[in-house]
This record gives sequence, structure tokens and C-alpha cells, in this order.
Amino acid sequence: MDAFGQACLDFLKGVSDEFIYVESKTMEDDIIPVKHLFRDYNEMPKCEQIALDNVRGKTLDVGGGAGSHCLYLQKKGICATLLDYSPGLCEVSSKRGVKSIIQKDFFTWQSNERYDSILFMMNGIGIGGDFESFHKTIEKSFESLNPGGQILFDSTDISFCYKQEDGSLLIPVNLEYIGFVKFQLRYKNKKDNWFKWAYYDSKKLREMLPLKYNFEILHKEGPSYCGKITLKDQ
Ligand SMILES: C[S@@+](CC[C@H](N)C(=O)[O-])C[C@H]1O[C@@H](n2cnc3c(N)ncnc32)[C@H](O)[C@@H]1O
Repeated sequence: MDAFGQACLDFLKGVSDEFIYVESKTMEDDIIPVKHLFRDYNEMPKCEQIALDNVRGKTLDVGGGAGSHCLYLQKKGICATLLDYSPGLCEVSSKRGVKSIIQKDFFTWQSNERYDSILFMMNGIGIGGDFESFHKTIEKSFESLNPGGQILFDSTDISFCYKQEDGSLLIPVNLEYIGFVKFQLRYKNKKDNWFKWAYYDSKKLREMLPLKYNFEILHKEGPSYCGKITLKDQ
């Protein structure tokens, strides 16, 4: 099952009022209106808008979903490539007009192409859902970036999900880091496999990031922020 892909393919066929149900073992269950994946620039949260405003040069949108960010960049004349492992989402992106699409798992994808900006939108920097994946994500991104290249992302401090009435945090036992989650997606009556994701707060992110990288917060809005990572001395 490819919950995001199936839901978005249906949306293109005119089913515009469906939801993707997000079940979690540690947090409250959530729903994503499918139309959110088709948002245009004006409907995007400020953090995403600022990430897009800071894009320059040839761009790779990792986990690009239904293509909303790539379409916006394309319209601005930016050469943008969408990478996503979901066949359904790659089909949807193509049907919506995204010109350059790579249907691959980011962690196993190999290419000699080099980019100037790499985007991870909708908390995409937490892809893989553990510290090892974070380090792989950063290393792999910089292997694929031209000198002077940048990672742009949005992320969220989800500690508020564990806040008690007295302000203290009730963190589930055995949770290595408060931002780690396990999700299962359901669309209609079909469920995907459970997968891991991570929501890194800015302090944790700086702590994990090797010192050779600069980390700048471009915008903050409630628990969310938009960040830029570059290599120092460039
Ligand atoms: C939360 S959605 C965000 C979609 C899009 N960036 C947006 O903001 O609308 C996460 C996306 O990452 C993709 N994804 C997750 N893990 C991936 C991986 N290892 N390689 C490629 N794509 C991945 C999923 O298929 C999904 O489209």
C-alpha cells in the first residue's frame, strides 16, 4: 500500500475531501487532509515559504510528495528535481507537471548530478527516524551539493505533545529522544507498514550536527522553524 500515493491519485481524479489517517504509538493520532499535499505557495506555512524564498540554483526536493514545492520553483524558472520513493506520488507529480522526477529511496539513490540547494519540506530532515539516518542524510546531501550548496528544511519541536498541565514533560519510557515517532498511515481501509520519523528541535539539531557545518534558523513560528545548513569556510 502507498497511502500518500493512492490518496493523491484519487485527489487528481476529483476526490477532494478525503483524509490520510496517521496512527502513532507515542503521540495522539492525527489526520492529514489530502488537499494539504496540493497546497500552493499562499497556503503553505511561513516556514515553507521562507525555505522556498531562499532556494537558489539547481534544486533537489527530497521526499517531494505531490510536487507542490517543485511546481512553485519551476514556475519561478528554477531547475527543480523531485525525489520520492512513492510510485503513486511520482505519478501524481508528473501529471501535475513536474518535469524532473527521480523515483528512488533517498538513502540508496546514487547519482553524479550536483545541486545548489536540497530541500526537506514538512519535517523531511527527520527522514529515517533515527540519529544514524540523520547523519546519513547530512553526509549524502553534501556529497550531492556543489561547493557553497545548502540544505533548506523545516522542522518542529514536538515536546509540546508531551507537556502536562503543570508544564512538566511526560516522556514515554524507552524513547531515546523526544522527537522520535513511529507512524502508520491509513487511507480508506488500507494501511501502510509502520515507519520511523524524527522531529528535531533546533538545539538537538545543532548538537548532532558536526562542527564543520553552519546551522542558521531563518524563521521561527510557534514550535516550528525553518533552517539552513551549509559547510563552513565556503
Ligand atoms: C510528509 S510527506 C511530505 C511531502 C512533501 N515534501 C510535502 O511537503 O508536501 C514525506 C514524503 O517523503 C517521502 N519519503 C519518505 N521516506 C523517503 C525515502 N527514504 N526516500 C524518498 N522519499 C521518501 C514520502 O513518500 C512522502 O512523500
